[in-house]
Amino acid sequence: MFKPETYIQRRKRLKEQMPSGILLFLGNDESPMNYPANTYPFRQDSSFLYFWGLDFPGLAAVIDVDQNEEIVFGDDFTVDDIIWMGPQKTMAEKAQRVGVHQTKPIHALEETVKQALRQGRKLHYLPQYRAENIVKIERLSGIHNALVNDYASKDLIQAVVAQRSIKSDEEIEQIEIALSISHEMYKLAMKITKPGMYEREIHGAVEGAVLTTGNYVSFPIILTIHGETLHGHSHENLMQKGNLLVIDSGAESPLHYASDITRTIPVSGQFSELQKDIYNIVLAANEGAIEMSRPGIPYRDVHLHAAKTIADGMKQLGFIKGNTEDAVAAGAHALFFPHGLGHMMGLDVHDMEDLGENYVGYDEKFQRSDQFGLAYLRLGKKLQPGFVITVEPGIYFIPELIDQWKAQKKFTDFIDYDKVTKNRNFGGIRIEDDVLVTKEGHRVLGQRIAKTIQEIEAWSSA
Ligand code: GLY
Ligand code: MN
Ligand code: MN
Repeated sequence: MFKPETYIQRRKRLKEQMPSGILLFLGNDESPMNYPANTYPFRQDSSFLYFWGLDFPGLAAVIDVDQNEEIVFGDDFTVDDIIWMGPQKTMAEKAQRVGVHQTKPIHALEETVKQALRQGRKLHYLPQYRAENIVKIERLSGIHNALVNDYASKDLIQAVVAQRSIKSDEEIEQIEIALSISHEMYKLAMKITKPGMYEREIHGAVEGAVLTTGNYVSFPIILTIHGETLHGHSHENLMQKGNLLVIDSGAESPLHYASDITRTIPVSGQFSELQKDIYNIVLAANEGAIEMSRPGIPYRDVHLHAAKTIADGMKQLGFIKGNTEDAVAAGAHALFFPHGLGHMMGLDVHDMEDLGENYVGYDEKFQRSDQFGLAYLRLGKKLQPGFVITVEPGIYFIPELIDQWKAQKKFTDFIDYDKVTKNRNFGGIRIEDDVLVTKEGHRVLGQRIAKTIQEIEAWSSA
């Protein structure tokens, strides 16, 4: 964990932004796969980690702003627990390490919350994504489980989002540790991928590369020769010469900060001419968007610039026709680029998505569009120094979408359906980097991972 001062300062700032009431944070519990003792790998809630640093199950914490009290609730290990799980420090010792001097057993949480409610004080909590924590809030507050998230505190959400959005130097260091693992994952993937292998072999190897560092993936690895399926999680295809393999993956640092990188590699080690042409359009969109990223620019504008780069490139290749500015304004490019350019990244790979995407990526000035494609943009508002963002354009040929739009005669002024249909099985290409917005502009985080055609072909033959 970070030094105690980090957590003390984070809570102090939160108290300054939340002038009254009690702030309730629930940690995560173990989550059973098929019976209670057989659990998924434990992952602490990210806001809990951010303010309280304690990375184990069975915890809750309260800040009583009016009394200026901070309490961590959790039970000490009994000898029975120690028999199965080994010795542990006491709760008081663990809490000291994050600058908290008051601990109580978990059962005391109920009385603390109920007493505050009896006094007519406001209970602030964040939106919940785990069923057991929704049930806990129902029990503590009396709010029906179906309504628990409707009553989450908007003030607390906004205060937490404001703070977690701006990354400190020690957080950037963690993200760069995660990126150093990504670097090894992609070096390995490019080296071992060959025709005749199954996707699952590469999947196992790159996930293994993360596990050997003692860390875990930041989300289930996307690894597929069907890159046109944006979040494909099946790894059963046999890879053949001519296929492109999309690998979108990330690792967590020891303190659970994420990396999120995508590279698209030719299974044979060599791109075909058409693959090169389309790859270079995606690369130009990625590099152009990175170049534009600086404080004060709305990320929606960066997204639209990338969309224009894609439309211009696809026009040169004959897939798009007409005025590309009009094509992008109408949303015609979304046939090939149907997702957003990127999102914030931090303790979550899609940072703070549990708190509500519109609180994180939008504000009063920048509201989410409802246009197909642009609607999936997770971050539209102006960039600020300290934001860590992903830049991940792509070009995809999604046969079902092509067939639907063609049948609907959609955007026939902008799309050459004959040319598109001839290449309907092209697949997909995505390139993703993680970028820090700095006062001066931006910095691409982590050591460079092969990205140009030349670099990828070189890493593939290493
Ligand atoms: N994890 C998918 C992405 O946002 O890149
Ligand atoms: Mn990704
Ligand atoms: Mn991403």
